[in-house]
Amino acid sequence: MSQASDDTGIRLRGVTKAFGPAGSQPIIENFSLDIAPGEFVTILGPSGCGKTTLLRLVDGLLAADAGGVSIGGHPPVPGPNIGFVFQSFRLIPWATVAGNIGFGLELQGVGRAQVEETVRLWLDRVGLLRFADSYPAELSGGMKQRVALARALATDPDILLLDEPFASLDAQTREIMQLELLRLWERRKLTALFVTHSVEEAILLADRVVVMGPAPRSLREIVPIDLPRPRLDEVRTSPQFIELRTYLTGTIREMITQDPNSPFFNRA
Ligand SMILES: Nc1ncnc2c1ncn2[C@@H]1O[C@H](COP(=O)(O)OP(=O)(O)OP(=O)(O)O)[C@@H](O)[C@H]1O
Ligand SMILES: [Mg+2]
Repeated sequence: MSQASDDTGIRLRGVTKAFGPAGSQPIIENFSLDIAPGEFVTILGPSGCGKTTLLRLVDGLLAADAGGVSIGGHPPVPGPNIGFVFQSFRLIPWATVAGNIGFGLELQGVGRAQVEETVRLWLDRVGLLRFADSYPAELSGGMKQRVALARALATDPDILLLDEPFASLDAQTREIMQLELLRLWERRKLTALFVTHSVEEAILLADRVVVMGPAPRSLREIVPIDLPRPRLDEVRTSPQFIELRTYLTGTIREMITQDPNSPFFNRA
């Protein structure tokens, strides 16, 4: 289901957002970015700089105070066209794996047979066919996040938003999930916006890495990642990858040590 299948790009124009009473300091200020249809953008930035807030603005859950967000030329509408994956999984505890994956389809009023077929397809794609009738509490973190990914993708959205989806996984599972996500995205290149604190993850996944900082300079830098696709595990050790990692690590460290509000101000 597409609201504008001819253009699924995301456009952010001068987006400014504050919380609290009028006159409060904005959390995000004058943020502009165009994300092309089918592009994979990752966002890096220190804690509290507004990354989650930005995703909620793109999802249409929050409204900007100034500037605007559009998807395919229209204001964003939360719903089946935008998949959202969270760090904390947010699965429905009393529903089975199959029930969780089919939830969005059922909300849309899709018929039972079609739901079952789509759920089966996604169970297979994320390697959980055997766990269709399990409950979230019976699954490992990596399996839960596979369910969450399948749930987000089952409605065939044009946009996928991911907020530190792998941050609570162990290092090995995390690396596997990064490759799984890439594999799913290669199948159908939807427009993806992925927030992470991991420089390595940001580079591995992205067409472009966007570095955010505290307002008033919310958009700090955009770094194109020209590594060839499809990307496999080996890319992590390529000289180009290491160069990008060194550069971005330095950029972020510099931003944190130069921020007077940071506990690391003027250190290291
Ligand atoms: N609904 C809200 N009401 C008031 N303040 C909020 C609200 N949502 C976020 N904030 C504040 O906005 C700032 C940015 O929050 P946000 O969650 O977007 O940061 P973040 O970059 O995602 O941080 P992290 O990396 O820790 O997840 C924080 O200071 C937070 O307390
Ligand atoms: Mg956040």
